[in-house]
Amino acid sequence: MKQTKIGRNDPCWCGSGKKYKTCHENMDKKIYRYALEGHIVPPRDIIKTPEQIAKIKESAKINIACLDEVADKIKAGMSTAEINDIVNDVTTKMGGIPAPLNYEGFPYSVCTSLNDQVCHGFPSKDVILQEGDIINVDCSTILDGYFSDSSRMFCIGDVDPEWKKLVEVTKECCDLGLKEVKPWGFLGDMAEVVHKHAEENGYSVVREIGGHGIGLEFHEEPWVGYLSNRGEDMLMVPGMIFTIEPMVNMGTAQITTDKENGWEVYTLDGKPSAQWEYQVLVTEDGYEVISY
Ligand code: MF3
Ligand code: CO
Repeated sequence: MKQTKIGRNDPCWCGSGKKYKTCHENMDKKIYRYALEGHIVPPRDIIKTPEQIAKIKESAKINIACLDEVADKIKAGMSTAEINDIVNDVTTKMGGIPAPLNYEGFPYSVCTSLNDQVCHGFPSKDVILQEGDIINVDCSTILDGYFSDSSRMFCIGDVDPEWKKLVEVTKECCDLGLKEVKPWGFLGDMAEVVHKHAEENGYSVVREIGGHGIGLEFHEEPWVGYLSNRGEDMLMVPGMIFTIEPMVNMGTAQITTDKENGWEVYTLDGKPSAQWEYQVLVTEDGYEVISY
């Protein structure tokens, strides 16, 4: 932790205008004690101020609106390019920018990942949704320089009960994980319940790709995995914002990335994969979902 020393009567680093001693001083001391015990602790620059949180929530409203609109319109016979159009329209009408577009060369405004696609699927006019498909729509928005990110699964028409169960259990993993989000807990508390619930149902969790801190950048510290256990990984403190977005596979956890485009990720065994994503704020006494 390389941080400049602030006097107790100086204005707090968070920009609240309050004196440091009546604002973040106690929290900083507490974080420091955890660091001395050998825990991974959040750097100050990922702890959001109330003003930043308000801005990020504005961005998240667009993200939620995009996914609500997709939820309304998605159906068999529709192409995934149409999902890209919906996200583009809603985002730009509300004054935002789709965060995926041109992000490290990603060529579309949203990720649409179908069946055995794990994540980062390219929307296409040639991919027509069929009865029985399961699809993840992963939407991310920039508004005034603030970022939001969440994703949902959609079942198209009648879906095989086994596949439907995968979708539902993956949602349960996220909901159980959420309940573990509270100040002075650890990301490993969340990770443990996520992977245990997936494994109890006979599924596997993708190891290589995880969630992330978000808000001032698309991807910030920490990297959020789901294989660790209680008490491990980064300490959670009020003002942190990150995503919970496990990818749960019906078969093997192993994945493979499209050699041609370098983006689209598939399960190695061709069995289906599901993912839901919440953007979560750590509050004074628990959590708040700011995008879903
Ligand atoms: N939720 C995904 C992530 O955090 C969104 C990926 S958008 C992409 O990685 F542009 F990176 F593909
Ligand atoms: Co994300």
